Amino acid sequence: MTATEKPHIMRVHAERPAASAIERAALTIRAGGLVAFPTETVYGLGANAFEESAVAKIFRAKGRPANDPLIVHIADIDQLETVAREVPEMAHALARRFWPGALTLVLKKSARIPANLTAGLDSVAVRMPDHAVAAALLNAARRPIAAPSANRFSRPSPTIAEHVLEDLADKIDIVLDAGRTAIGVESTILSLVDAPARLLRPGGVSFEALRELVPDARYAPLTLDEGSPLPAPGSMLKHYSPRARVILFQGDDIGAVHAAMREQIARHRRVGVLTSDAEAGAFEDDNVVVIGLGAGAEQAARRLFTALRAFDKAGVELILARAPEKQGLGLAVWDRLLRASAGSLVEV
Ligand code: TXA
Ligand code: MG
Repeated sequence: MTATEKPHIMRVHAERPAASAIERAALTIRAGGLVAFPTETVYGLGANAFEESAVAKIFRAKGRPANDPLIVHIADIDQLETVAREVPEMAHALARRFWPGALTLVLKKSARIPANLTAGLDSVAVRMPDHAVAAALLNAARRPIAAPSANRFSRPSPTIAEHVLEDLADKIDIVLDAGRTAIGVESTILSLVDAPARLLRPGGVSFEALRELVPDARYAPLTLDEGSPLPAPGSMLKHYSPRARVILFQGDDIGAVHAAMREQIARHRRVGVLTSDAEAGAFEDDNVVVIGLGAGAEQAARRLFTALRAFDKAGVELILARAPEKQGLGLAVWDRLLRASAGSLVEV
């Protein structure tokens, strides 16, 4: 296949994908190629998890540093034993409660997982996605699929196939396009290699829900100090970033927060404002691009990455984002915004 023929885009039904499309994508995975596919969180960039050279293609396509490990996707619980070893009972309990779903577990890796996939670590991140297209692809491929989010390194994760094409069009073999993903932010990552269990990334399964099963799970929120140890390998601050600079505003006094935001608006030429629909109206008369994230954390999660990309298309130089409540999916939204801002947080 020459570069100009790439990628082959196949539109598929989100609940009942055509077997012919899935079979073709699965053949590509088995042949060592790259397939972008939807999950319930974001689109993934998939390759055969057991094949080192296929995994290497993911890192090259994304421009991803070799020290940032990938997530392995499995079709069913039986496959877990092929990717992980010494799986603790807690992992099975979590899998029964949350799989298929937006929970990634970090476990000890099996010998079959190549070292480049885990960035040389003795642990592996694994999840069973809750999306009919992902499930069909995994079943047809008959092997686990390594898949990070299908964006260029440090760009916002893709929630529609167009985002994948924006970033990676000439680098992948097949794109399975099933429309917008349901959750919109990536999976929650929980390490069971650490004792007690440690939340490495808030995501599609809330920390509150996890805590019902793992009451002693710990979460050390992202540190703003670039020099400090990273909370998860590869989860460096400059991540999920639009091209524009982002400043995050936190505070309960809405009037004071808006005043602080207006100070920035006055000092810049093209500014974007990202906030809830309820607060968006307050900026109607300002000369800004306003994007409302809807009402509530679920809607905010679903719209977040599209909004960040839309600001880039609108050519804003600065994005002023209102920090969400850190509850439920709000914690994941807050985490992504803090990363997008590279730690630029204003507490009013
Ligand atoms: O929702 C998701 O998780 C999406 C979809 C495609 O499944 N995938 C995704 O993958 O977000 P990615 O590559 O963007 O994030 C993988 C992250 C790494 O950056 C790292 O922080 C963590 O998972 N990770 C992977 N392996 C790890 C390990 N062995 N130990 C600790 N963290 C690990
Ligand atoms: Mg990613």
